[in-house]
Amino acid sequence: MSQFDIFSDDSSALSPNEQRARQLRMLLHSADHAYYVDAHPIMSDREYDTLFKELEQLEQSHPELCTPDSPTQRVGGAPLKEFNQIAHKKQMLSLSNTYSEQEVQDFDQRVTDGLDNPLHPYVCELKVDGVAISLIYRNGILHQAITRGDGEVGDEITANIKTIKELPLMIHENPFDTVIEEMEIRGEVYMEDAAFIALNAQREANGEKTFANPRNLTAGTLKQLNSKEVAKRPLKIVCYYLDANREETMISHADNLLLLKRMGFPTSTHARKVENIQQVLSIIDEWNKQRETLPFGIDGIVIKLDSIPQQRILGNVARAPKWAIAYKYEAQQAETLLKDITYQVGRTGIVTPVAELEPVFLAGSTISRATLHNEDFINSLDIRIGDTVFVEKGGDVIPKITGYNPSKRSNDAKTFEFTHVCPCPLQTSLHHVEGEVQYMCLHPECPWQIRRRLEHFASRDALNIDGLGEKVIDQFVEIGLLHSIADIYKLNLHREQLLGLDRWGVKSVDRLLESIEQSKQQPFRKVLFGLGIRHVGEGIAKTLAQHFGSIESLQAATIEELLSIKEIGSSIAVSIIEFFKDEHESEMLTSLIQAGLSFRSSLEEQEQKTNEFAGLTFVLTGELSLMTRKEAIEEIEKRGGKVTGSVSKKTMYLIAGEQAGSKLKSAQELSIPILSEDDFAQVLQGTKQLTSFTGLS
Ligand code: IVH
Repeated sequence: MSQFDIFSDDSSALSPNEQRARQLRMLLHSADHAYYVDAHPIMSDREYDTLFKELEQLEQSHPELCTPDSPTQRVGGAPLKEFNQIAHKKQMLSLSNTYSEQEVQDFDQRVTDGLDNPLHPYVCELKVDGVAISLIYRNGILHQAITRGDGEVGDEITANIKTIKELPLMIHENPFDTVIEEMEIRGEVYMEDAAFIALNAQREANGEKTFANPRNLTAGTLKQLNSKEVAKRPLKIVCYYLDANREETMISHADNLLLLKRMGFPTSTHARKVENIQQVLSIIDEWNKQRETLPFGIDGIVIKLDSIPQQRILGNVARAPKWAIAYKYEAQQAETLLKDITYQVGRTGIVTPVAELEPVFLAGSTISRATLHNEDFINSLDIRIGDTVFVEKGGDVIPKITGYNPSKRSNDAKTFEFTHVCPCPLQTSLHHVEGEVQYMCLHPECPWQIRRRLEHFASRDALNIDGLGEKVIDQFVEIGLLHSIADIYKLNLHREQLLGLDRWGVKSVDRLLESIEQSKQQPFRKVLFGLGIRHVGEGIAKTLAQHFGSIESLQAATIEELLSIKEIGSSIAVSIIEFFKDEHESEMLTSLIQAGLSFRSSLEEQEQKTNEFAGLTFVLTGELSLMTRKEAIEEIEKRGGKVTGSVSKKTMYLIAGEQAGSKLKSAQELSIPILSEDDFAQVLQGTKQLTSFTGLS
């Protein structure tokens, strides 16, 4: 029997499908754990995918086989309208911070005095810079995940947390004598630096707002109502608290960490139990030197009394325990020469000043450039070229310039004048909107912008043109082969010229032309995203493609129509309208249409949403919590269904929220299939089928 099969009873009573589903779940659970926690894969990606697909199909045709701990639940479910608020059983405390050795010594003194006992081992843990989470497991299965919130009440974000592959949806082993009906585990959700950098780069390329640091990105991700989006981001978790309401978990914190590990929870390999505060101080010192080597950011060390009875004696003060403290490291800082300030032009024309630095090594990487954001930022810090500036990396991975060293300022330091013309060879006057900090180049042929736009258009998430990367684009723009996106589709007319270029041969040219040809098959939403309309990222492009179905209807949309779409706010709407008004953009569009790109959503994309409930009549009753009544009606109508006010023989399905009354009774009497709100959400999401609700009890 697998180590994951901890609650197995008599499985011979199960149907063959049930048995297979269960077996697949076990296999996939062990594979997840082996891959994400042990870093020792036990099967190939292909094998994993095959098993995963089999389970998915099994659950689709037999929705009753889909359990909350199924690995298929990790890919995200139907978007929520809002999160449920849930009260924590025990307040989620925060920690008091200390910044010096003396303060740590003072803490130890208070502990000694409070316990009247010099023997009090501590556990030191890394203070991972992430977001605290409380996880409730019922009978060994993840039931709820709740954010800290204000410490008393948090948001229920279970679907989002389920996407974290290394977190067991079902405990792997039960170390206790009996099944634990309910236990609480707390931990920190975070993101590794490399994933943060990659995601930010992708967001920047999409023209989306970037996040300042991995913690903000983690927090932003966990707040997403659409768990499918969360599943795309590689969140991680480390667990550091267990309450199973059993004698065994009331003894030692270090023991609890071991219990957590046995149950399959990711715990830190860096936690250390030590006997006294001197050892704590040397750990603090050690990690101050070593912390750059970690793949994720820490902002300090957490020091906790190991003995839980001792923790109890000391108790809490306000929102912080008296038995634990955080030692916070200072942001890592370096000084270096600001050699020059140059500019970058983004694909939407925004001109950003960039600090060109004497290369300096800081927290794991050499820094030679850093953004200076805008003119106001430079002025507010009074930074001049030739200054010695401070570069900092805090919880952020992105280096920041935080000021200059006045004692090192020379008389030659040059005040910086922000350019009023575009730094590109065309030197167009920049546009500055009163009251805004950005300067923009509006020239449709600005080569710097064009390069960026071309890069974006050809990128993997847009038209995915293999072989048309940054360097090739630079080369082609330089020799005048590319002036605009539309020129990409004329490159085949210049095959001979391409063959004559440095580093190009028959094979590479034909491969490039082939992938350009291939890109015409990319769906409308990708083309729309690739156009680089300001504020239109991947998600918005998809919404627009689905809503309007074709470029013509999008082009004809009024601002009111755009604003009536939930996801679209005024800045997006205005930039869409402006895009279509612009004659250069219109010219480009005409060329792209002529070149044969898809400017229409495929029928499947559209129909999927429209006919699912055709001819079906629904009645809603009771209180809904995942969505408002209006939203539920919209979802039904969007799919071609009808909603009526009272139950009759014509009612096909009743959706019953909490405290449903007489309508529920009538429906039961008429054997009308009844869906809970949760069932309904799953139907919308496609993980349950309407036909599986029969009305027979
Ligand atoms: S224990 C009573 N342990 O730091 C103990 N917290 O400032 C409360 N954090 O909200 C938390 N790593 O988000 C604990 N190993 C660790 C931690 C940790 C990071 C965060 C957590 C907490 C905050 C308190």
